[in-house]
Amino acid sequence: MIFVKANDYDDLSRKAADLLYDQILFKPDSVLGLATGSTPVGAYQYLVQRYRRGELDFSQTRSVNLDEYCGLPEDDPNSYHTFMRQNLFDLVNFCPKNCWLPNGMAADKGAECKNYDRLIRSFGGIDLQVLGIGQNGHIGFNEPADCFTMGTHEVFLDQQTIRDNARFFSSPQMVPISALTTGIRSILQAKKILLLAGEEKTEILKKALFGPVTPRVPASILQLHPHLVVITTGTVTGNVRGN
Ligand code: PGA
Repeated sequence: MIFVKANDYDDLSRKAADLLYDQILFKPDSVLGLATGSTPVGAYQYLVQRYRRGELDFSQTRSVNLDEYCGLPEDDPNSYHTFMRQNLFDLVNFCPKNCWLPNGMAADKGAECKNYDRLIRSFGGIDLQVLGIGQNGHIGFNEPADCFTMGTHEVFLDQQTIRDNARFFSSPQMVPISALTTGIRSILQAKKILLLAGEEKTEILKKALFGPVTPRVPASILQLHPHLVVITTGTVTGNVRGN
């Protein structure tokens, strides 16, 4: 585990963007596992700046996002499809055919989940997975549970997640109750993982990185990954599992 202390959010965003930049520069057709939420937005803004300066080319880069709400059409202002288009995809030269998110409107969600896993496998897995962390320790929408779920699946959102995400909706009642999320397998099989966390996530980050590995804190499974980079503005210390 490589731990990077950022001075502030801008520094976290710049450092995260630098890692994404290096990844795309050295492997232009990289498969990125991208994340939504507030935390990666600054990194995406830095990538857009670098693209506009002519330093970065996304034309061959592929992206498989972590998750999508069920029941929101792609063009809904709160869908993660819209989020990604507004924060990154439409602002750089990503080919639309290379930008993938689960289809939360699929009539057959089981088939959609299987297809999404098949798609990721067909790419040979994810080169660089970007993650935020929920206050309850979720990664993607892998919520605290009795066991880790390996494949892409439909998940009913935790009450904490609904409260946390209500800020984007007109009321908590408008937050969808379920989502499709990639599972632990494709996240852990990513060649590199970049976990981003602001200071407000310090307590859950400590639990996840230095506590027991348990599905009750889904991010704790990241301790087992051989190439995990954590960038945080918080002060987090503990005994790092040897890897
Ligand atoms: P945030 O969400 O980046 O908006 O804090 C992270 C998450 O819930 O995974």
